[in-house]
Amino acid sequence: MRSAPGPMAPSQDLFAPKDSIRRTAHIQSLEEYQRLYRQSIEQPEEFWAEQAKALTWFHPPHTILDADPNQVDFSWFNGGRLNASFNCVDRHAKTRPGKPAIIWAKNEPGEYEVITFRDLQHHVGRVANVLKAHGVRKGDRVCIYLPMVPELAYTMLACARLGAVHSVVFAGFSAESLRERILDSGAKVLVTANEGPRGPKRIPTKAIADEAVEGLSQLEAVLVVRRTATEVNMQPGRDFWLDAEMARHRGTCPAEWMDSEDPLFILYASGSTGKPKGVLHTTGGYLVYAATTHRYVFDAQPDDVHFCTADMGWITGHTYLLYGPLLNGTTTVLFESIPTYPDAGRLWRVVDDLKATILYTAPTALRALIREGDTWVLKSSRQSLRLLATAGEPINPEVWRWFHDVVGEGRCPVVDTWWQTETGGVLITPLPGVTPCKPGSATLPFFGVEPLLVDDEGRVIQGNGVSGNLCLARTWPGQARTLYGHHQRFVETYYSRFPRLYFTGDGCRRDEDGYYWITGRVDDVLNVSGHRLGTAEVESALVAHEAVAEAAVVGFPHDIKGTGVCAFVTVKPEWQEASTEQMVGALKEQVRHAIGPIATPDRIVIVSGLPKTRSGKILRRMLRKIASGELDNLGDTTTLADPSVLDELLARQQPVARPRS
Ligand code: WTA
Repeated sequence: MRSAPGPMAPSQDLFAPKDSIRRTAHIQSLEEYQRLYRQSIEQPEEFWAEQAKALTWFHPPHTILDADPNQVDFSWFNGGRLNASFNCVDRHAKTRPGKPAIIWAKNEPGEYEVITFRDLQHHVGRVANVLKAHGVRKGDRVCIYLPMVPELAYTMLACARLGAVHSVVFAGFSAESLRERILDSGAKVLVTANEGPRGPKRIPTKAIADEAVEGLSQLEAVLVVRRTATEVNMQPGRDFWLDAEMARHRGTCPAEWMDSEDPLFILYASGSTGKPKGVLHTTGGYLVYAATTHRYVFDAQPDDVHFCTADMGWITGHTYLLYGPLLNGTTTVLFESIPTYPDAGRLWRVVDDLKATILYTAPTALRALIREGDTWVLKSSRQSLRLLATAGEPINPEVWRWFHDVVGEGRCPVVDTWWQTETGGVLITPLPGVTPCKPGSATLPFFGVEPLLVDDEGRVIQGNGVSGNLCLARTWPGQARTLYGHHQRFVETYYSRFPRLYFTGDGCRRDEDGYYWITGRVDDVLNVSGHRLGTAEVESALVAHEAVAEAAVVGFPHDIKGTGVCAFVTVKPEWQEASTEQMVGALKEQVRHAIGPIATPDRIVIVSGLPKTRSGKILRRMLRKIASGELDNLGDTTTLADPSVLDELLARQQPVARPRS
């Protein structure tokens, strides 16, 4: 058994826990964390059985953990019956009906709508009855392609109520991406909106959905939220306005008794190869993990107003905007807009208007706001804030300090949380008021989590002051169980690189104090503005253009996005006379259309050949270095089949944005 993370020598970079929060924290001291951590590792079943008591079970589990690591088969809380929607809604509607469950911050500043737990129960019940009327039953999949409107939360919880599996697709994805996800999940119903205001733009969600579902016979209905007055094409017999449907149905709907291991949702995530994978989370383990991590990591208190700026289309939205806060009866903010609309003061305005106590956001958003200067922040009060948190990508130490010093006025702890779509909830994180922090480090493992660093040969690296591939030695309740319909791919993706260990795809350093520092992806996944993007996906989008012969996509350091996308492309002979400017424009449009705006390459370099070995393998590492401007050490150039390719690449090299720290 591994022991709890070792004692920490104070260093000048260490931010001491804040007294202001220690008085209320669930865990009172670092020693208490270490003791509980040790218990969670030595007696995981006892630890998680205790945590599971925070939920309401129709029938308690008889077994806490049943794992067959050889089959990569993990089940938690077997025998337990429960319902996610009941736990998020009904039990609070009974004990505190008038408490705000969701505060919707609409796209236009100053416009809010409060949804109490009582309201939420009625709306969720109505949507559940609408879904039922359209044939949705336990186990069916429902695809949700919505902007950040309350109906998004209602529909997710309505699916959970019926035992249907929701698959939320970020409303910034293209028709092609949406279609792919509808097909893979076999969704029966699609829920969308006529359009979605987002900052200065309006996303034509219905028009995109129409293109996505054209000719698909598997869909029995498309339900359309009326977000604005704009009229859209409605196909009779297939498309229904959700408000009209809701008005026809009752607000009460019984909650299905689900088994712990029944699926709760699918969420697609990019990987290093192939198409996005349908990461599948189940009911009992996910909910216990969401509730436990939300309670400890955010030090959840009864009067909190939890403001998570993530979109529901990502796992952060699922776990820490919807499920975690609602399970704990916390008021959660559903933010329809973007941090820079109408100006860079928007987040602080929402914080002040709603007296938000917790702000959970992404380093990308902070980097964009820093650029606009401190005045936007200083103009606001922010006195309600007591905790700041980030996720999704490494946070540069100077961005961390700005968040801590300027936004939090040195008053609020900053928790940098490391996790993934597949992990369901946070795995490496400080506990506020307890863990001394170092800017840029996600610090120490959460309860029940055993990180390992492994070298490229699969040997576990012991001790501190070391770096390696970040793996997890054991399962935890929030772990994804499989990729929907592709268990073998699940095994190959996560458990084949290092047998019997879950491989995260991230590189990591464990410093002298045992603190973890995520150094970024070590596979072919890019983390662009905190969004995961497979280089292979962007390459397939590019080669689908008639002019493209070959494409290689790599990341490079980007001031705001963390990682920028750079594509090296060769064009077919008949297109070589085309203007570079037009070609670059067309290719950017191609990627935007195939995947969505988040994948648009920042740079496209058209070259006459890609650097390859004699056996035809593209030397990506070399391209990565060229794109990043690291020209001193390009590796062994003698393996190049055609050295003149390199001369051309170097001649085309342009200075790139350097990271801020
Ligand atoms: C990265 C997002 C550094 C990491 C919750 C991971 C981070 C990927 C952090 C998962 C962090 C997430 N510090 N890197 N605090 N949090 N990442 O699935 O590379 O969208 O593998 O989940 O984001 O992205 P995903």
